[in-house]
Amino acid sequence: VITGYLSIVVLGASGDLAKKKTFPAIFNLYTQGFLPDELKIIGYSRSKMTTEELHTTIRGYLKADRQDPTKKSEDVIHQFLSKVTYMQGAYDTDEGYIRMNEEVSRFELEKDDKDSSTHRLYYFALPPSVYPEVSEKVRKHCMNPRGWTRVIVEKPFGKDLESSEALSSELGALFTEEQLYRIDHYLGKEMVQNLLIMRFANRFFQPIWNRDNIAHVQIVFKEDFGTEGRGGYFDEYGIIRDIIQNHLVQVLCLVAMEKPVSLSPEHIRDEKVKVLQCVEPINEEQVVIGQYEGYTDDPTVAKSSNTPTFASLALRINNERWDGVPFIVKAGKALDAKKVEIRVQFRDTPGDIFNCKKLGRNEFVMRLQPKEAMYMKLTVKEPGLDMKAIQSELDMSYNQRYEEVVIPEAYERLILDTIRGDQQHFVRRDELRVAWEIFTPLLHRIDAGKIPLLPYKQGSRGPREADELNAQTGYVRSEGYIWKSPTN
Ligand code: BG6
Repeated sequence: VITGYLSIVVLGASGDLAKKKTFPAIFNLYTQGFLPDELKIIGYSRSKMTTEELHTTIRGYLKADRQDPTKKSEDVIHQFLSKVTYMQGAYDTDEGYIRMNEEVSRFELEKDDKDSSTHRLYYFALPPSVYPEVSEKVRKHCMNPRGWTRVIVEKPFGKDLESSEALSSELGALFTEEQLYRIDHYLGKEMVQNLLIMRFANRFFQPIWNRDNIAHVQIVFKEDFGTEGRGGYFDEYGIIRDIIQNHLVQVLCLVAMEKPVSLSPEHIRDEKVKVLQCVEPINEEQVVIGQYEGYTDDPTVAKSSNTPTFASLALRINNERWDGVPFIVKAGKALDAKKVEIRVQFRDTPGDIFNCKKLGRNEFVMRLQPKEAMYMKLTVKEPGLDMKAIQSELDMSYNQRYEEVVIPEAYERLILDTIRGDQQHFVRRDELRVAWEIFTPLLHRIDAGKIPLLPYKQGSRGPREADELNAQTGYVRSEGYIWKSPTN
């Protein structure tokens, strides 16, 4: 818990992200006692609104008792909201920022406690188009003269390598890398954070986590709904920029990177950059993109849109550990399920005396959501008199194993990390650049309509070609066996 005065300014306070994610995350930290008593939260945006109206907007998203979300403690919500004020102001003129700075400074000096430390956190829950002007004004008027100033920024960080680099340079001219926290909320998810420990603290995995034993890796994101009101934003970006280039690539780094020298944020991010540098240029032959039928019925989407809502592609990592192993990254909207998982498939067992090849291979699956779980598909003897091999699993479903534990929200962890000054779970500038380097040539080809966009039905598995890509890259689908969450 930090001491002193903490001011959190949420820019873009009237937007969806602020209401659904940022304020609830700050609230959760507050209720768990992670924030200092001397706390001020300002919501800032262009919308005309009073503080009371902001309170009404966000209170529906605040859950005081997370074990039983229907049970809200009005007192704690009331206490929290008493710390939150709203300020209306423009993004591109000085006036609002001068007012904001006055308000924060007044709070910091209010008890005339000049020895106490002060901390300022600016959370940009903003459309990317206003990032440069907001950054410039914050830098000009709102920096903390006595303690730290940190800025959380959220994707999209540009649309390709060039625009992302331009944005990075603009931000880099105003804030140091230590002041900038590029959030990728996937890095705040429990199972993503677990990857580092799982991989590097278990003898089970260490010797087999390589091309000699692993045949195929998939990192899969599925949503069972379409763009739902976000069509305007989504149509400009598409699924690769929205999910793959950032969230899934971050997961891939943690699955594939070498062991860092230590747990220091720089050591971890050095390894992530290194593995990304080993990713080969994407082979278009191993790219499948699609758009769900009915996508362009959304009034905010152009009828002629060629934006993919589905993509599956093979990435190849050219290093000693992974040479020859395909990493399929797949993401889609309006599919048959809502889940995110990492699926590592092992090679066949040599000398198959049990005829288990036809049952399916060993797999290790980490389910990021929903219902966090890890399970290993393996072959065992069917219980009973027969000497028959079947597939079963070693299962660690979190809601069974850690029944009482409430898994924190990604944003909650990441905001806490920012307050603590830990950049381990944030994206460094060079990491972002390499991720864009990998995808930019493909994105330009897609934008130019050079890659066939396959239609698929809403609620389906996506284009059939994506399953073919899996088979073609060596994935063996097991027939007749499906893992069922034991607590379903
Ligand atoms: C966001 C994307 O970054 O992540 C959305 O912009 C997507 O399109 C969302 O729905 C998914 O996040 P989560 O945490 O629900 O998996």
